Amino acid sequence: MIPNIINFDSLPSTNLEAARLARAGANEGVCVVAAEQTAGRGRLQRVWLSPPGAGLYFSIVLRPTLAQGDWPLLTLMAAVAVHDALLAACLVETDIKWPNDLLVAEKKLCGILAETVETQLGRAVVLGIGINLTKDSLPAELQATATSVESVTGVRPELAEVLGALVSELVTQYESLQRVGGTRKIIREWCLRSSYCEGRLIRVTEGGETLAGTTRGLEPDGALRVETVGGKIKVLRAGDVTSVRPD
Ligand code: BTN
Repeated sequence: MIPNIINFDSLPSTNLEAARLARAGANEGVCVVAAEQTAGRGRLQRVWLSPPGAGLYFSIVLRPTLAQGDWPLLTLMAAVAVHDALLAACLVETDIKWPNDLLVAEKKLCGILAETVETQLGRAVVLGIGINLTKDSLPAELQATATSVESVTGVRPELAEVLGALVSELVTQYESLQRVGGTRKIIREWCLRSSYCEGRLIRVTEGGETLAGTTRGLEPDGALRVETVGGKIKVLRAGDVTSVRPD
């Protein structure tokens, strides 16, 4: 994959622009970056607040050769890449909450939204990544649950440095994922960086139902295994996971 970065001052959403470019025939590796988003999108129809200059708002077009059943692994791959990029560029050590939120001290620093797009060259994936860089990325109402690089380190990171590290880690992890044995490898790499992989008490809300249990690793396609109080293993493919503190 050869990255090609296109910068914008303002966009409704970098994911929407990347999807438009993918439909117009953009190659894999086209990256869209905006200084602000006026309609940033989060998972589960949420809004991603994106004030000017406060975060990295980034989307990349991928045209994976991976079997479609393994495409959920792309978001785990992105989480591993962001983890390593933040460590390299900002010396920030993050935890990964399944499937792909990056946290510091249980507060969200980065979110990832993968969306598929039908194009004339076949189905593509737009991988959107939002990283809170400065304190201005967080309105008062989010400060209990979200954080930024600046809040963690006391230093305002250079966007260009974070972007450079992110693109480089994405290329490395994406190419590794698509090699033989890459799907098993990314699960191992994800588990090495996540306290949610094994033995974590969690509560999950899915389709209005709540399930509590202990995490027991990932399935080969990235789904989360959870052992319920009754000892049954449930496999989660979606849903919102919250951590539960042991009594
Ligand atoms: C989440 O809900 O955690 C995912 C948030 C993803 C936000 C990023 S910011 C860049 C890209 N463009 C969007 O509109 N969303 C993603």
